[in-house]
Amino acid sequence: MNYRHSFHAGNFADLVKHALLLWLVDRMRTRGPLTVIDTHAGAGLYDLTGDAVRSREAEAGVARLMASETLPPAIRALAQDVAALNPEGGVRFYPGSPLLVARRLREGDAYLGFEMNPPVVDLLDQALAEYPAAKGRAGDGYVSLAGATANARGPLVLIDPPFEQADDYQRAADAATAVMRRDPSATVAIWTPLKDMETFDGFLRRLSGGKPGPVLVAEARLRPLTNPMKMNGCTLVMLNPPEGAEAVAQEVCGWVAETLGDTGARAEVWWATS
Ligand SMILES: C[S@@+](CC[C@H](N)C(=O)[O-])C[C@H]1O[C@@H](n2cnc3c(N)ncnc32)[C@H](O)[C@@H]1O
Repeated sequence: MNYRHSFHAGNFADLVKHALLLWLVDRMRTRGPLTVIDTHAGAGLYDLTGDAVRSREAEAGVARLMASETLPPAIRALAQDVAALNPEGGVRFYPGSPLLVARRLREGDAYLGFEMNPPVVDLLDQALAEYPAAKGRAGDGYVSLAGATANARGPLVLIDPPFEQADDYQRAADAATAVMRRDPSATVAIWTPLKDMETFDGFLRRLSGGKPGPVLVAEARLRPLTNPMKMNGCTLVMLNPPEGAEAVAQEVCGWVAETLGDTGARAEVWWATS
């Protein structure tokens, strides 16, 4: 397994995913105790003075976020979490999805994150040590998902693979539709890169074939999708999102495209099925 999220932590795609994740958690918690399952958890906390310096992705992402003075509410919520982890100022530490969720858990809520890479599992355990309701577990998140959601009513599931394996799109789509078949009150959010439209269309066709109910696609395009070798943007595909998701997705993807994108950047937010 070659993928290291530490190179990408705090990039534009993390900002899209994490701002929308925070909104989903806050919104879904209003209904009662919430269970969050993260199939691909990562380390939980990233020190941006490591690998991220070489990639310069955080410099073009979270560093610019923290330097911006006016932020729309959903983006501001993420900036507040980042600021809380850096009490001395600057942006040395950036939270991953496990820590962002763990910090929000209240009595009765729970978080369970799966991670395949043993050294990353150790980092995940360290990041969650202070949060007894949040657990990391070694294992394949796709395989473990059915068991993890079996006793949870209306959970929030994040599927955030590295997309290094050729079958990640297929496994993500099938895992998501299996959750929705078992519990139509669940919400699933799947992160994908956006390189070319053909790959993404194939993924959406696979997903829609599983009849997952309402599917909202939130795209942040940093540039026109002309070079399929590049990550030209990203999406968060939300199955059965709470009311209000469309407007928040527009706010988040619009801010990211406008602030961090090149010429021709734009947000596209649309219902693939409703
Ligand atoms: C994109 S990162 C996750 C980032 C994290 N969700 C966040 O937002 O902070 C993907 C992680 O999935 C792990 N991974 C890869 N395949 C996996 C699998 N089948 N099950 C669980 N984890 C996996 C990788 O080691 C990597 O740490």
